[in-house]
Amino acid sequence: MASPKTLEIVTATVPVLEEHGVAITTVFYKNMFNEHPELLDIFNETNQKLGRQQTALATTVLAAAKHLDKLATLLPQVTQISHKHRALQILPEHYPIVGKHLIGAIKEVLGEAATDDIIDAWTEAYDEIASVFIQIEHGMYEEAMWQGFALFKVTKKEAVATDIAAFTVVPVDKSENNSGNDSANALEIDLSKLILTAGQYITVKTDPKDSDHIALRHYSLYSASTDTGIQFAVRRDNRNEHHGLVSNYMHDQLEVGDTVLLSAPAGDFALNQDLIQQNDIPLVLMSAGVGVTPVLSMLEAQVLANPKRPIIWVYACQNIAHHAFSDQVSKLLEQAESVEKHIFYFESGQLLDAAWLATLPNPADIYVCGSMPFMESMIDGLVALDHGIDSVHYEPFGPKMSLGG
Ligand SMILES: Cc1cc2nc3c(=O)[nH]c(=O)nc-3n(C[C@H](O)[C@H](O)[C@H](O)COP(=O)(O)OP(=O)(O)OC[C@H]3O[C@@H](n4cnc5c(N)ncnc54)[C@H](O)[C@@H]3O)c2cc1C
Ligand code: HEM
Repeated sequence: MASPKTLEIVTATVPVLEEHGVAITTVFYKNMFNEHPELLDIFNETNQKLGRQQTALATTVLAAAKHLDKLATLLPQVTQISHKHRALQILPEHYPIVGKHLIGAIKEVLGEAATDDIIDAWTEAYDEIASVFIQIEHGMYEEAMWQGFALFKVTKKEAVATDIAAFTVVPVDKSENNSGNDSANALEIDLSKLILTAGQYITVKTDPKDSDHIALRHYSLYSASTDTGIQFAVRRDNRNEHHGLVSNYMHDQLEVGDTVLLSAPAGDFALNQDLIQQNDIPLVLMSAGVGVTPVLSMLEAQVLANPKRPIIWVYACQNIAHHAFSDQVSKLLEQAESVEKHIFYFESGQLLDAAWLATLPNPADIYVCGSMPFMESMIDGLVALDHGIDSVHYEPFGPKMSLGG
């Protein structure tokens, strides 16, 4: 528990740090990567270039500091970040490195205004916040199905839309591992003993030719079944002339028979277990583009667990060529007893707008996944229609920008 003096100083200086938040974290990253270039293998270079992670870390430390006397209230948000940290294999020994450089950056940016009292208070605050993360992540490491990154072999690769490839991978037996990959602590992972939860993601560790660094990326499972292996799908992410590093590597270079490193499944985007067996609150699964992956696994889980529950499937994409997993979705929906299916092709002018959202039942148990603009407009629209925020769940395919408050 932080001392009263620390609480007082931190609360009083949060606005100053907010003002300089991005400058502080920019200096922080520069200094940290200079001293620890090995961390460039963990952080997402593109997020760095686009300033996304700077914003995430800055807003999170400040938001957490504002709640220093009641950090427990932030547990849901911390848990979500910790899932990412665990998936990326962030370890307790990384925290003092971040702490040292974050406090160093505060000193550098604030200059003389950073008195010893302020620096001591923020050091104590950071240690307090870090210990909450470390404790939660410790529990996650203990529960993870395997530690580190394990070697898997691609057994199937197929196009499920014009820009989306679906992969099935199986664990590589130690005896089979002739990949020359030392980090392949493939362990003895027994496929039949894996338990996947619909909505989770795995993290791939790749070493693309086009990059000086290892690159880690998360991909959601599109099925929680382990019958054939672990299944995920990757959209070729080329929004501009800078082509997406890992997605293009996966599309162009990772073929059947090749190996890939994965860390154990993570994430808390999951069906509300209390409602799966109840038929009075419908399940609404809304997605756009490759955002279909986690909600497709949820559709499968719901149909297997209780096909009587009403399901509303809502999917938006550019056009029919981009319509992913169309057959798989139709087959699953056929197994459910009460179904609505709504498809929107943007190119044909079919709009999934606020007026349409008003046609959804309320109450409903709603799961949304797609691009940030898609999710923001859906969530804002749903909340405006009095869908409680607790009944609208979502998974951003990128860093969440804040911890709230
Ligand atoms: C929890 C979670 C689950 C996810 N699930 C999936 C999934 O199921 N399927 C899926 O396909 N993706 C998923 N993602 C997204 C995925 O992790 C990657 O972010 C995505 O594949 C892009 O990675 P990349 O390396 O190809 O692109 P990056 O190299 O990271 O680039 C990202 C984008 O930025 C652009 N860009 C790159 N460099 C620059 C620059 N210098 N200036 C301007 N723009 C630039 C690129 O064109 C690209 O569009 C998920 C993400 C999260 C967090
Ligand atoms: C208390 C300290 C920390 C806080 C508050 C924090 C906060 C965050 C937040 C908010 C995100 C974005 C989560 C998302 O994607 O939704 C994130 C991601 C990440 N964090 Fe941390 N973090 C902390 C410590 C660390 C440490 C010690 C490391 C390792 C040195 C680390 C490495 C990463 C990486 C690699 C990502 C993924 C994002 C990217 O690569 O762009 N973090 N963290």
